[in-house]
Parts: sequence; structure tokens; C-alpha cells
Amino acid sequence: MNSHLILIGFMGSGKSTVGQELANRLQVPFFDTDQEIEKEAKEKISDIFRLKGEAAFREIETKTFKHILMNHDPSVISTGGGMVLSEENRSLMENHVVVLLEASIGEVFRRLQDDINRPLLQQNEDRFLGIRQLYEKRKEFYDMAAKLKITTDDKTIEQIVEEIISAIK
Ligand code: S3P
Repeated sequence: MNSHLILIGFMGSGKSTVGQELANRLQVPFFDTDQEIEKEAKEKISDIFRLKGEAAFREIETKTFKHILMNHDPSVISTGGGMVLSEENRSLMENHVVVLLEASIGEVFRRLQDDINRPLLQQNEDRFLGIRQLYEKRKEFYDMAAKLKITTDDKTIEQIVEEIISAIK
């Protein structure tokens, strides 16, 4: 690989699990922006949102993303679901292979219905509605940034990884 492979997609689309497996298969380093943020800040994402607010989180997110992009050999990088929202982040992605993992709203809801770690999902009493509204608002940003789209419903991690590998060959 001569550029990074960046996984984008909505919360619960499998970016971290797929990213780790993909990096193993490609024998390159793996980074997960949320994990790097928590490591660096020594705080959980939910605490950063609660104590400092979303805007502060987004600043840290961009800084962390830049740092990973610029200081490492070609790697697989899984990003948080909101990474694509900022124009700066999308332009940082431009010279890399950006893969969108797409899961249906129903599948996302099934995976996240009891989640307590994602601050943006705790705000709406009707979780399905909250997911749907956010999903619809974000779709255009995922589409803007993606160079390759992979649907994930009813596929195993191995199938998704295989599909990505054969598409980037
Ligand atoms: C967010 C997604 C989360 C995390 C934060 C905000 C978002 O990452 O970065 O809670 O705005 O969609 P995952 O996509 O890994 O859940």
C-alpha cells in the first residue's frame, strides 16, 4: 500500500472490527481514531462529550486524525462516525483510499439499541428515530468522502474484508 486505507461509516457499521482484521490481513498497522483519542486524553469519549462538549471533541478528533495520517507508514485507519462532517477532515482524506462501510438503519439500530457509550445516541428518547435522523443528515457526507462503498448487512467480517481486498487490488 502506498497510501492509508481509511474506513468511514455510521456508528455501528463495523469500522473498528473490520479495520483490525483488514490490517492483519494486509500486514500493516491499525489505528482507530476513537481509541487514539481515549489513549491520548486518558478519558472516555463519553466523558469528553459530557465535560467539554461536542465541539471540543471534534477539535481533538481532527488533531488525532492528522497525527495518525502524517506520522505513520500506510495503515488501516478506522474513524469515528462523525469524522466526515468537517470539510477539513474530508480534504485530509483526499489522497487516500476511503472505504465506506454501509449498514442499513435497521441493522444499526439492532446493534446499538442498548448502547450506552455513544453520547449522540443518548439524547433522543426514541432511539430508532434518533438514529434515523442522524443517519439521514449524514448520508451526503459519507457519499462525498467515499471512494468505495461496501454494504455490510448479512455479511461476515471475513467476507467484508475479502471484498475490500479484492476491490483495492
Ligand atoms: C460519533 C461516533 C463515535 C464516536 C463519537 C461520535 C459520531 O464513533 O466518535 O461517539 O459522531 O458519529 P463510532 O462511529 O466508532 O461509534
